[in-house]
Amino acid sequence: MIMRNFLSTADWTRSELQALLDRASAFKSGAVSRALEGKTIALVFFNPSLRTRSSFDIGAHQLGGHAIVLDAKGATWPMEFAPGAVMDGDEEEHVKEAARVLSSYVDLIAIRCFPAFKNWQTEREDPMITAFAEHATVPIINMETIVHPCQELAMMLALQAHLGDVAGKEFLLTWVPHPKPLNTAVANSALLMATKFGMNVRMLIPDEVYRLDERYMSAAEGFVADGGGSLTVTTDVEAAYSGADAVYAKSWGALPFFGNWDEEAPFRAKGADFMITPEKMALTNNAVVSHCLPMRRNVKIADAVVDSPAFLGIEEASNRLPVQKAVMEALATQSTGGAG
Ligand code: CP
Repeated sequence: MIMRNFLSTADWTRSELQALLDRASAFKSGAVSRALEGKTIALVFFNPSLRTRSSFDIGAHQLGGHAIVLDAKGATWPMEFAPGAVMDGDEEEHVKEAARVLSSYVDLIAIRCFPAFKNWQTEREDPMITAFAEHATVPIINMETIVHPCQELAMMLALQAHLGDVAGKEFLLTWVPHPKPLNTAVANSALLMATKFGMNVRMLIPDEVYRLDERYMSAAEGFVADGGGSLTVTTDVEAAYSGADAVYAKSWGALPFFGNWDEEAPFRAKGADFMITPEKMALTNNAVVSHCLPMRRNVKIADAVVDSPAFLGIEEASNRLPVQKAVMEALATQSTGGAG
């Protein structure tokens, strides 16, 4: 049996993901597990975090285990990931050694490593976590790279709690304003998860340049073909909101301008009115609305929406704890049959 990682939900079937969601629901209802008794997880952060860091640490503790947090941008050695690199720059350590050494100490490794926002053609290969997965001998969990699978699970747990069976429900993924170009990870993940669970997904963007990477667009189209639902991309705000059951907000940088952001500015300006407001929400089917957090109020979503009962952002964030306990339990208790 091959050792499973949790790198992307694209690698897990809908029924496997539903099993994780069901286990997370059981944790929310008081189920107890000691799956990490005597075990340790390393949480390796190349970028800041509030929710991910605290919920993984607490989750490991609640499963009877121990978490060590490694700040890879200051408290550990600068790390190289490229195969064959001549390491005459700032990097002191190659992931080939770091992954193997950590594997000898811990039972799980979780990685957060955002793109460097320089060259999408190389960064779309998710090189750091891919290298960890290649060289570690323990399971790897993605805490956000170019996808954010734990966030996807937390989002779906909240949607199922409020909408029941989500198949056939109308899901609006809307680009929202932000002063800076951001990672596409959460948008990629929301797209993957909503289509995988059979939702009718509308992606609202200010311009075609905000289409997500073709890898995720075509994966989503494949999920629709296999499991039902639909996927449409639109720049029509009114049509996108009309009749939506769920609205999911995210801002991201346009991939054609990756590393060349000044040229993106005119396209970003086209979305200046894309903030979620009560007027837009009035077009929906009494929709719930969520965001992964952190979130800039009155830039992405108006106070009146964030402070309304429709807002699920806090519930989604709190779901990070049970879904990650389900993921850690599943990976820590798998039988590998010796496979690495
Ligand atoms: N949503 C999320 O991952 O939050 P943090 O960046 O605070 O971990």
